Amino acid sequence: MKEISGALRQLKNKEDTRKLGHEIANALEPGDIVALIGDLGTGKTALTGYIAEGLGIKEKVISPTFTIVKLYESGRVPLAHFDVYRLSGSEELWDAGADDIIGGRHASVIEWADIVADALPSDALLVHLRYGDNEDERIAEIL
Ligand SMILES: Nc1ncnc2c1ncn2[C@@H]1O[C@H](COP(=O)(O)OP(=O)(O)OP(=O)(O)O)[C@@H](O)[C@H]1O
Ligand SMILES: [Mg+2]
Repeated sequence: MKEISGALRQLKNKEDTRKLGHEIANALEPGDIVALIGDLGTGKTALTGYIAEGLGIKEKVISPTFTIVKLYESGRVPLAHFDVYRLSGSEELWDAGADDIIGGRHASVIEWADIVADALPSDALLVHLRYGDNEDERIAEIL
């Protein structure tokens, strides 16, 4: 994955989040993993939607909460969008067949990645999201 600059990003509004999503999208290659960590409503799905938009994916990204993963094939790099909120650990991720997808021809974005932290490779892009001081503000820490 190409380098993403700026470890700490102040996202003053959704437009800033959109820019970050596009920047991440431009850096993504097949097999890359983006691990999104942050409380309810901090914008994990929103950021994933903007990453998808940046990849040129035409479908609207909706959270795959009941399926664990949803695949989008129409972008520059195909995208696998995981939401592991309902899993109790990485064991269940493998039970769900994720090893056929993660690291393959898709780039993977994983919401609630802290739940499956032990399964993440060290080169995954970690994005921690938290609330800012204003309603539409978020802080992204990129590691
Ligand atoms: N700067 C911002 N970036 C992203 N989302 C924002 C921002 N400001 C406000 N929002 C709003 O915050 C909400 C984020 O919801 P979203 O579903 O993306 O969060 P989430 O982290 O995926 O939550 P969940 O834990 O339920 O999956 C949306 O309603 C969005 O419109
Ligand atoms: Mg979500």
